[in-house]
Amino acid sequence: PIVGVIVVAAGSGTRLGAARPKAFAPLAGRTILEHSLDSVFGMQRESQVVVVVPSALVDEAASMVTDAAGAAHKYVRVVAGGATRQQSVALGLAELDASVRIVLVHDAARALTPSSVFDAVVTGVAQTASGIVPGVAVTDTIKRVDDDESVVETVDRAELRAVQTPQAFPRAALDAAYAEAEREHTDDAALFAAAGNTVSIIDGDDRAFKITTPWDLRRAEGLLRDTAA
Ligand code: CTP
Ligand code: MG
Repeated sequence: PIVGVIVVAAGSGTRLGAARPKAFAPLAGRTILEHSLDSVFGMQRESQVVVVVPSALVDEAASMVTDAAGAAHKYVRVVAGGATRQQSVALGLAELDASVRIVLVHDAARALTPSSVFDAVVTGVAQTASGIVPGVAVTDTIKRVDDDESVVETVDRAELRAVQTPQAFPRAALDAAYAEAEREHTDDAALFAAAGNTVSIIDGDDRAFKITTPWDLRRAEGLLRDTAA
């Protein structure tokens, strides 16, 4: 395939505090990872999918991507992740086939992201050869503070975006950016931009929020209940 999707699911989920690593925690009767994979498999374009999970859970994740007939989904690979998200992405990148030209990196924790967002970022990279990142307007008023929590200023919200995943990149430029990264970046777009590449934002989706805390999990459960009703 021309498109590769790396689903990072190797985190422990400290802030969620579930009994299992976050991607394997239950959401409406299935795991968070299974919900995420539904969205990935719903993409219009054929893609190679690399799922990056805690090393102890590689076999369990492999059985998730195997259907009832025992056949693995075409072009899906499961590999062990690293100590940081950035390391997990790098381990996923190493698994991509030579045919892949556009790479999407997606947080498994954004379990309810519509497939349409995946399709849109692929189209964006194909048209621009830039990094393409989904983002939404910030609704809270944002204050910059000093060490004592004294307010320094109110930041102009109009020029801020809260960014989500999947983030999509031309493959060769992303590989090069990862090869030269010297520190941890907060997302792939920041790492990609640090190497001198251009990143543009397209409209994200409220449903692409990241399940981080127990409150987020309740919100996801509620949204799934609403759509089931
Ligand atoms: N991730 C990963 N490998 C890591 C750390 C994070 O693959 N070493 C993945 C997580 O599984 C998640 C995504 O990166 O899908 C975003 O990270 P985050 O929401 O911070 O998840 P966790 O690190 O698992 O949660 P926490 O920070 O609360 O421990
Ligand atoms: Mg984390």
